[in-house]
Amino acid sequence: MIDQKALPIEETYVICRNYGDVITAIKDLTIRGAPAIGIAAAMGIALGMLHQSATSREKFNNHFYRMCDEFAQARPTAVNLFWAIERMKKCFKNVVTSDVNDAKRVLVDEAIRIGDEDIAINRQMGINGRSLVTSGDTILTHCNAGALATGGYGTALGVVRAAHEEGKELHVFVDETRPVLQGARLTAWEMTKENIPATLITDSMAGFLMKQGKINLVIVGADRIAANGDAANKIGTYSLAVLAKEHCVPFYIAAPLSTIDMALHSGDEIPIEERDTTEVSQFHGVRTAPEGMAVYNPAFDVTPHRYITAIITEAGIARPPYDESIRQLFEGKRKS
Ligand code: MRU
Repeated sequence: MIDQKALPIEETYVICRNYGDVITAIKDLTIRGAPAIGIAAAMGIALGMLHQSATSREKFNNHFYRMCDEFAQARPTAVNLFWAIERMKKCFKNVVTSDVNDAKRVLVDEAIRIGDEDIAINRQMGINGRSLVTSGDTILTHCNAGALATGGYGTALGVVRAAHEEGKELHVFVDETRPVLQGARLTAWEMTKENIPATLITDSMAGFLMKQGKINLVIVGADRIAANGDAANKIGTYSLAVLAKEHCVPFYIAAPLSTIDMALHSGDEIPIEERDTTEVSQFHGVRTAPEGMAVYNPAFDVTPHRYITAIITEAGIARPPYDESIRQLFEGKRKS
């Protein structure tokens, strides 16, 4: 996998030789972004089982479920991780033969399928979302919801890419995204590679740009969306949504159905990851705050559904009331 920690300074690849390497890569943000975390976990589970020397199905099963539990501990907020683990479990259960090699093959195939499907889903999301973008628009985005954060193409940036590919003239304002700088390091890198005109700003500049009339719409990704439309995304997203409402700027979320957690009624139930305090108190390993300073570092926040203009998915665009529109998207997908 490309080492997202090293971008944009270096384009280096990390080789995961065992499933533990994949868990470490998820934890330390070598790979990050909700769909990419799910795909990595599926691939990691397949890798771990390929290395399993147990010949009895019972031992093989025990190892599989233990490993799934370990992956589930890697990061708490992005539901795609748990969604991918559940898919791997379901497919594992369906292997009825006692031959462990059959199970290995099925798991590898399923992991590859999860990755391939994600790219197709992103492209469909792009097609669905580009109708919301008009030529000449200036779009604000936060964090990185691009090719790096997914199997490829991107969710929020997939919509931007699709509109750009359609020939629409766009300008993207990229929030740097404190404290880990996914915007400055990763989204800016993707926009540069794609030749999509973009300008980097610090997170605190967004309100001023909206007041100046420089932003037509906001599009961000999500890590988990509750059944009522409340959406968890990178810390700072909530502030953007409130600012967007104040300035009458449409605020869109682009996310696959696998990011929607129908088991949660509202965003209050979404677990929010707290990360190491040094992400805030240091910059590139150099301390920027007084020693001993208390630090609070939630990695995500939850945007209440009333601030969200629409949710763009591969199955269509959901609009308020979300309880109803999200349910209809799932029903439509089940029927198709
Ligand atoms: O901590 P990260 O970098 O994994 O957070 C990622 C985000 O918040 C993204 O916006 C989200 O996962 C959507 S990615 C398509």
